[in-house]
Parts: sequence; structure tokens; C-alpha cells
Amino acid sequence: MSPDPFVKEEWTNKYIFTTTKKAKMKGIVFTEFLDMVEEKFGYEVVDQIIEDAQLESKGVYTSVGTYKHSEIVQLLMNLSDTVKVDPNVLLKEFGIYLFDTFLKTYPTFFTSVDNAFDFLESIDKHIHVEVLKLYPDATLPKFLSERFDDNSMIMTYISDRKMSALAHGLIERSIKHYREDYSLEIENISEDGSKVKFIIKNNS
Ligand code: HEM
Repeated sequence: MSPDPFVKEEWTNKYIFTTTKKAKMKGIVFTEFLDMVEEKFGYEVVDQIIEDAQLESKGVYTSVGTYKHSEIVQLLMNLSDTVKVDPNVLLKEFGIYLFDTFLKTYPTFFTSVDNAFDFLESIDKHIHVEVLKLYPDATLPKFLSERFDDNSMIMTYISDRKMSALAHGLIERSIKHYREDYSLEIENISEDGSKVKFIIKNNS
């Protein structure tokens, strides 16, 4: 078998995503990612990024399946190489896209609260807890939230997967969904990208 592509030095030096051979990821992330690629760049690019990768799944995913986390990293890096866009920019775009899928698939998570702060707080306290009941093999990030007053909040993303750009897109889109005027600042609090602070202020 060929070596795992994720030990490639040029990647580990250049980009911060890390994965292990054992790490898994839910199929919904793959099916949505490929749908986004098709919608934004066309099916030829989907074929290209699958062809350029070494995938145990052969690029065939179902939303309820579970696949190697390293496959999403390969697909993302191949997309970045193909369309010449920074992988973190693409990952953030994917967060925005994924929000709309979650909104359609799990509408009650969004209607049970009526403002962005309560929604963002509910990700760790409620949404991801329910996700874990549904998919016990899911690997979810930790979000610590601190509310200072009605107008400011800090959410700290903690995950060895270092996919805070995905969280960035999801958070930004969540704020838009509740139609409030917020500003969002990002602060990397660990050099490797596994801990990132999102400082959210309500300007309205
Ligand atoms: C209805 C809403 C949501 C659902 C159903 C949901 C579900 C999921 C699922 C199934 C995964 C994949 C886990 C795995 O493959 O093992 C995931 C990962 C993730 N979710 Fe959520 N999620 C929701 C909302 C959000 C929101 C609003 C954020 C924004 C902060 C967020 C942040 C993340 C991140 C960053 C990951 C990637 C894993 C990591 O970084 O460690 N999720 N979520």
C-alpha cells in the first residue's frame, strides 16, 4: 500500500490540518463538501480532486456512512491545488454552505432559540450533544462559551482537527441567519491552530 499522503512534509509545513490514520469523519461532511464543489466549480473539478487522491472509499460517500478523516483533508488540499485558492478560505466557504444543509436537515435546532448568542451557545450544550447520540462515532470540536453581557460573547474552538475555518464559516452564517448586527474577531490562541477564540460583539 502506498504511504499515507498526510505525512507529506510540504503539507505539514505549509498547512495546519492534522489527521491520523484512525481518525474518522461522518459522511454528511463528505457528501456536502462534494456537492459544494460541484455547485461552485463544476463536476469536472469533483472528478479531478477524487482522481488525484488516494481514497479507500474511492470517493463514494453516503451521508450516514463514516470515512477516514484524512480523505476530507486530501479532497480539500486537492481542491485548493486545482482552483488555486487557500484551503482555509475554501473551508470557511464550506462552513457557510454546510450551515444551509443543517438548517434544512435539522430545522428545530434553529427555531428553538431566537437570537445568535443563544444559538451559538447551544452548539456545544445541545446540538453536538444530540449529534453524538445520533452518531456515537462522531468526533466533535469543543466550544467554550463565555457571555460577558447582552452584547458580547467569546467562543473558544478546541479541536485536534484544527478546522477552525469551518467553524468560522458556520459562525458567520449563524449570525446572518438571526439577522443581527454583530462583529466577529478571531484570535489564534495556540500556535498549531487547535485553539481559536471567536470574539463576537453585538453592534445593534
Ligand atoms: C444543526 C446544526 C449542526 C449539526 C447537526 C452539526 C453536526 C456536526 C457533525 C455531524 C459533524 C461531523 C463530526 C464527525 O465527522 O465526526 C460536525 C463537525 C463540526 N461541527 Fe457541527 N453541527 C452543527 C452546527 C455547527 C455549528 C453552528 C458550528 C459552528 C461553530 C459547528 C462546528 C463544527 C465543526 C468546526 C466541526 C468539525 C470537527 C472539528 O473541528 O473537530 N457545528 N458537526
